[in-house]
Amino acid sequence: MSILLLGKLSEAEYAVWQQHLSLHLPADETLVLASQAYDKTAVDIALVANPPAGALATLPKLRFVQSLWAGVDRLLSDPSLPENVPLARLVDPAMTRAMTECALANVFYLHRQLPAYLRQQAHRQWQPRQQVLAAQRRVGVLGMGKLGAAVAQALADVGFPVMGWSRQQGSDGLTALLSRTDILINLLPLTAHTTGILNAALFEKLPVGAALINLARGGHLVEPDLLAALEQQHISHAVLDVFNEEPLPERHPFWTHPQITVFPHVAAATDPATAARVAAENIVAFRAGRAIGGLVSHAQGY
Ligand code: GLV
Repeated sequence: MSILLLGKLSEAEYAVWQQHLSLHLPADETLVLASQAYDKTAVDIALVANPPAGALATLPKLRFVQSLWAGVDRLLSDPSLPENVPLARLVDPAMTRAMTECALANVFYLHRQLPAYLRQQAHRQWQPRQQVLAAQRRVGVLGMGKLGAAVAQALADVGFPVMGWSRQQGSDGLTALLSRTDILINLLPLTAHTTGILNAALFEKLPVGAALINLARGGHLVEPDLLAALEQQHISHAVLDVFNEEPLPERHPFWTHPQITVFPHVAAATDPATAARVAAENIVAFRAGRAIGGLVSHAQGY
């Protein structure tokens, strides 16, 4: 049987993955690339990075799917995804570290008022603003999975009062968190329950002047509601790494909005050097009948 690497990858990216996977996969495993000819009936494991919809349904012997992305919302939204085949999302400590660095960078960016100082510099304005210490800046983290929990801990370690929320805590818990949040970070998985959660009703529950950092998925955000909340100055600034449509269309209003910072989905990219090891370990565990890390529940959606 063979392991198929399948994704929206360039030839060069396939080669990099192949190189790293060959370092970590047991010698008796056969790796085939979707960019080359291969026998579909011989594939029992698929390693996927943004595969075309329907592709996994064409593998009759498929028994395990390892995502090379942390978020599996796109995979799960493919109606032809075989439901009885175990699917694992990528849980890579290096990616968790990258996400933590990104969250720290953006919390400090907002906390130290960089958007305002950058605007002032553009107008040659020498104008000190009120200094606030981390202990006075409350951070709320939505999503207490591997990424959210690590981010919350790192922020607490540098002195911010941090609250975390996961959907199991219910809407009362969310309301309580929002009322005490100056900077809100979204790290929820995108599911049927969390789609559009960053909307007008949620923004209203934040104190006036709060800021938003969305590092999860564009589908969490109701874009017109954010624009309205910024317009009303209820939200002071938004840092957005993810969008409903990626790349963000050239004419999209977010690009030039003075209260929005746009990043091109770079918060925590998969690094083949570390992810290949995680994927290989999961494959070995699967073959041995041991527990797989990051196993996804189709019912929960993550
Ligand atoms: C990136 O967005 C990922 O899901 O890995």
